[in-house]
Amino acid sequence: MQALVDKKQPHSESFTPFLQQSTTQRPRYRALFNYIQQRILSGELPAESRLPSSRELAELLSLSRNTVKQVYEMLQAEGYIETRHGDGSYVSPQLSLNQPTEQNSPAADTKAVRLSAMNEQLEQIRPLYHQHPQQLLLPAIAALDQFPWQQWQRSVSYAGKQMKFSSGRNFMGEPALRSQIAAYLNATRGIRCDMQQVMICSGSQQGMQLAFSMLLDPGDKVLVEDPGFPGIDGAISNVGGIKVSVPIDRQGFRTDAALSDQQDARLAFITPSRNFPLGFTLSLERRLQLLKWAREQGCCIIEDDYDSEFRFDGPPLTALQGLDGEHCVIYSGTFSRILHPSMRLAYLVLPPALVEPFNRMRGFMDGGLSSLPQLALADFMARGLFTSHLRRMRKLYKTRRSYLLLRIAETFSQQLIWEPSDGGMHGVFLLPPGSDDKAIAEQAMNEGLGIRPLSYYYDKQPPRSGLVIGFAGYNEAQIDSGLARLKPIIEHHIPT
Ligand SMILES: Cc1ncc(COP(=O)(O)O)c(C=O)c1O
Repeated sequence: MQALVDKKQPHSESFTPFLQQSTTQRPRYRALFNYIQQRILSGELPAESRLPSSRELAELLSLSRNTVKQVYEMLQAEGYIETRHGDGSYVSPQLSLNQPTEQNSPAADTKAVRLSAMNEQLEQIRPLYHQHPQQLLLPAIAALDQFPWQQWQRSVSYAGKQMKFSSGRNFMGEPALRSQIAAYLNATRGIRCDMQQVMICSGSQQGMQLAFSMLLDPGDKVLVEDPGFPGIDGAISNVGGIKVSVPIDRQGFRTDAALSDQQDARLAFITPSRNFPLGFTLSLERRLQLLKWAREQGCCIIEDDYDSEFRFDGPPLTALQGLDGEHCVIYSGTFSRILHPSMRLAYLVLPPALVEPFNRMRGFMDGGLSSLPQLALADFMARGLFTSHLRRMRKLYKTRRSYLLLRIAETFSQQLIWEPSDGGMHGVFLLPPGSDDKAIAEQAMNEGLGIRPLSYYYDKQPPRSGLVIGFAGYNEAQIDSGLARLKPIIEHHIPT
């Protein structure tokens, strides 16, 4: 491409395309700066070419001279041009490496940015579903319209004032929130911990990333439930861990299948209170077997307790951590499901021996989280709003689940069989063996439903066909509307 400007003679006309550009870009000095910068970088204004004087350019572009002068000063400050006394402004000679290129197209020797092997690994694993808030019957959505927004706003405003007292760098999290969480867990979940053991994370997903990076070396095996939570696949893969799928039955994680064959595994990741997604509870016998295995092997168990607050037939079950004696269980809890998915606050309860190593790692990894939402949540909990909201939601979700079960039994008595569970925010409904649950869920998604296929949650074990249907976030009218949309899809796939 020909250079638009003769090296010695300033060709003011080459700036006229600027006039044709949209004049809406504000401020004008920034628009002119960008225009000249792009022309220099693309080589259209080659090194050592002379720019028009500020007076000339200001007249041509109907700008004030001060604006053009300001642009030239900015270009000079950033090294694009230099001003020669009594001679004018020139594109810097140092930019002679800049070859003219077609505008907006990269030069031939521009290589695509190289990503690490992690990107390739992530491309290989099951993609996660994206949630659209408008979808009905999403499995993990709370009743957002029931959230006490006004009270929350008060807590946020209070937190804004409290920030000035925060010491700033708490790698493990704000002490006020950690102490509230410790008190809540001791009182309601049978967990034995003090606040020093509580580490705040941005969602339990981050907690897993941090824990896996501290507990696994490349090639180490991790026992996971199958079916299970796919959100951990990426975190295991990131550190080069190898997933070992362990089947589930009505007593939960099959310790008999896992522990004899996989003595050398380094870690077990489980949802003992309510297996995700089937909802089965890990029996006491298996809990004790698992703890014995972990102690003998020097391994950790990560207990993902994602929604056990919502047990409808009695108080929440005692956590596995409570049986452990604070030795090898890392307990993970989240506020995403209880309060709001965008809260992005969760926590790990660490065995005392892991507190210092995790604290050190956290300082290097992200330096901890922003204090504002943590202080807001601490205040929300201290005012008793968290536990009262929980109590209300437990009642509401129980009613909503009863309604969903009733309507499904009425509408799909031949096609959907409920897989009983004692609580949660979704129900699992089995389809006749051999039915294509993925096709049904995909069509349902096109109809605005967030229903998931049960087979998606299986990894190596033979999948069962079924639907995972959320009820917590939806009132009766919404449940009716969702099921009405589902009816023709099911009838098409499974005629009665
Ligand atoms: C079983 C299970 N564990 C963990 C999580 C992740 O929660 P968070 O939003 O805190 O990352 C979820 C999310 O729904 C989940 O279903």
